[in-house]
Amino acid sequence: MIDLHCHILPRMDDGPATMEHSLEMARIAVKDGIRQIVATPHVMGKENAPDLIRRNVDILNSELRGEKISLEILPGADVYGLLDVRDLKNYTINGSDYLLFEFPHSHLPPNAEEMIFAVLLEGLKPIITHPERNPSIIENPERLFDLIRLGALVQVTADSLTGHFGPEARECAAYLIRKNAVHFLATDAHSPESRKPVLSRGLRAAARLIGKEAANRLVFANPAIVLSGKILDV
Ligand SMILES: [Fe+2]
Repeated sequence: MIDLHCHILPRMDDGPATMEHSLEMARIAVKDGIRQIVATPHVMGKENAPDLIRRNVDILNSELRGEKISLEILPGADVYGLLDVRDLKNYTINGSDYLLFEFPHSHLPPNAEEMIFAVLLEGLKPIITHPERNPSIIENPERLFDLIRLGALVQVTADSLTGHFGPEARECAAYLIRKNAVHFLATDAHSPESRKPVLSRGLRAAARLIGKEAANRLVFANPAIVLSGKILDV
């Protein structure tokens, strides 16, 4: 499996505080069947410059090789949607046009459509992160469907489907999956303890909703297309 959204780089954000914790996350991911992880530290301003992210990805990959852990880390970012749109191209996934795009957690801004449109005009493909945890979308999922019609893609957090983020997020995630409004499942993991890099539980829950083949696409084929930079046919 491929995890497109994971805070695995040490000492960069609210993810692991030490390299040992990062390696522990890597071991958990491999045991779960994850073979590639996009490292996605939060980017809200000037912190976590693209060069620093790439450098830390290289360091973690060499530590993984040293520890004989069969996992590949690729560069990306968890980009806050209110960032200047001209800066976004520096934070795409693995040098592709795809970009993790995070709206404020508290609500969906009234100009969300304009924001997505501005990203698309930059030639980028925004992947909206965990909409199932956003109160505005929980209340009115139609607002997300409008963004998808514009050209946005959607990533749901795997453990939302298991109820880890509460019943409302679980119900919303299940509704979006049934409506064919989800393109990726990812862990959005932050630690080896409470928010672990585990996809399999969410994958099983998704398979119960839409069948095994369609669920598998969310963690195999679709993220593989993103990593290759090709166009995802939705
Ligand atoms: Fe995140």
